[in-house]
Amino acid sequence: MTTTSPPEVLSMTGIAKRFGAVQALSDIEFHARAGEVVALVGDNGAGKSTLIKAIAGVHLPDEGHIYFNGEEVHIGSPAQAQKMGIATVHQDLALCDNLDVVSNLFLGSEVTHASVLDEVAMEKRSWGLLRELSARIPSVRIAVASLSGGQRQTVAIARALLGEPRLVMLDEPTAALGVAQTAEVLNLIRRLRDRGLAVILISHNMADVMAVADRVVVLRLGRNNGEYRVADTTVEQIVAAITGAVNNMRPSDGIGPASAAATQDATQEGSQR
Ligand SMILES: Nc1ncnc2c1ncn2[C@@H]1O[C@H](COP(=O)(O)OP(=O)(O)OP(=O)(O)O)[C@@H](O)[C@H]1O
Ligand SMILES: [Mg+2]
Repeated sequence: MTTTSPPEVLSMTGIAKRFGAVQALSDIEFHARAGEVVALVGDNGAGKSTLIKAIAGVHLPDEGHIYFNGEEVHIGSPAQAQKMGIATVHQDLALCDNLDVVSNLFLGSEVTHASVLDEVAMEKRSWGLLRELSARIPSVRIAVASLSGGQRQTVAIARALLGEPRLVMLDEPTAALGVAQTAEVLNLIRRLRDRGLAVILISHNMADVMAVADRVVVLRLGRNNGEYRVADTTVEQIVAAITGAVNNMRPSDGIGPASAAATQDATQEGSQR
């Protein structure tokens, strides 16, 4: 748990994005700090993926400012985002099942030596990365198809780390995983934070959010609806903000809602505190 505020890696203010008649985001404020896991939560259609895509260079916002490492940026493409040090692990992972772990890690950024693939260098780097992540992968030369869901998630995260990012975004990384694999991925997320990365986690699973996040940002109907420190809040408070039982829509700055938590029949995961 962080007590002082570490440096802001990403800062967004006044972000708006419209798709035709749909105002997907309005006046969004969002920050991510080094060595911190921030969970982005909200109901279906709240705007989470749209916000992540604005950071990942998929959508250019209509309005607002994005600062990365203290400088204002315009993130025009996914390639540019990656180059800047922004890594995204998409929900579908986009791994090639028939290729082995090394090939998946280096797909599109192969290491060559005199225009020949340097398999030894890539294999070494793969082991190094996986060791850093304390990943339990039996071999880097087996096809990704034969790995478990948790191991596949690990490979996708390792691939994201190849570019030495400062910010890692994970979209529903545990949605398809069992209990043990979920625990493994949550541990991995903690290790990313401990390496000083800023981590953004999108999740519908409140147990995961409470287990791994330091801060929770709630979106509702494309607007900020509260920001909570996990240490000072309950699942009920967060669920109330997600469903709209509590309205924190303005002001959107500052930590924690002024209003008391309206206890709510939790429709999401069961309460755990
Ligand atoms: N490319 C697009 N074209 C048109 N409308 C879009 C597009 N992307 C998102 N939207 C709309 O923007 C709103 C926010 O969608 P978004 O995908 O960001 O929600 P979300 O919070 O990620 O939801 P979920 O939890 O279901 O993934 C929705 O009303 C959605 O229909
Ligand atoms: Mg989404």
